[in-house]
Amino acid sequence: MVNKTSLAAPSILSADYGRLAEGIRDIETAGADWVHVDIMDGHFAPNMSFGPKTVADIRPVTKLPLDCHLMVTNPQDYIESFAAAGADYFTFHIEAALHANRIIQQIKDAGMKPGICVVPGTPVHLLDEVLPELDLVLILSVNPGFGGQKMIPSCLEKLFSLAAIRKEKAYHYLLSVDGGINTENAYLAREKGADVIVAGSAFFSASDKKEAVRKFKGN
Ligand code: DX5
Ligand code: ZN
Repeated sequence: MVNKTSLAAPSILSADYGRLAEGIRDIETAGADWVHVDIMDGHFAPNMSFGPKTVADIRPVTKLPLDCHLMVTNPQDYIESFAAAGADYFTFHIEAALHANRIIQQIKDAGMKPGICVVPGTPVHLLDEVLPELDLVLILSVNPGFGGQKMIPSCLEKLFSLAAIRKEKAYHYLLSVDGGINTENAYLAREKGADVIVAGSAFFSASDKKEAVRKFKGN
């Protein structure tokens, strides 16, 4: 039994981009907490999605935090434009960062909350040095590129390790999980310590979106 509830962050990657504002209103109406924005550049991830203009255009549509997940090479090049667009969280990949500490400082200086993400093949011990600086750690539980993939269960163990480290060291980051999470398996991620549940296809394909969000959150 999981006692804690999590925040729900539906990913607009699975929305209909012809009616993006409606998709975001659906996220709000369903009672979700954040809007997750998956940015892919066709280099780091084998697909393309949104850029800072999309973030700027959706900013006035919602008061919910915009949780931007940048699956891009050279994330440092996009800090200013995402800050200007109104992003709240700027989460970049450790695999794409030569100087993670510097990037985190730049994100904070730009007025955003820094997050780091790891792909399934990357161990979390690589994050040890920067964990105290982070507001968010995002565990990618599929390989980057596409919505609608199957969650890789071993990735959930990373949540458990990071929750233990946070407790031991009194760090403050939120733990988020992204990829293949649905109404059936969200409780497994919460059980391992996820504070934020990202779901794209499972949210946008749900006929009852309120009920889906309730199941993601566990309340
Ligand atoms: C992977 C993306 C997806 C997306 C969620 O590149 O980051 O994980 O947000 O999509 P679903 O929930 O459909 O796996
Ligand atoms: Zn994502």
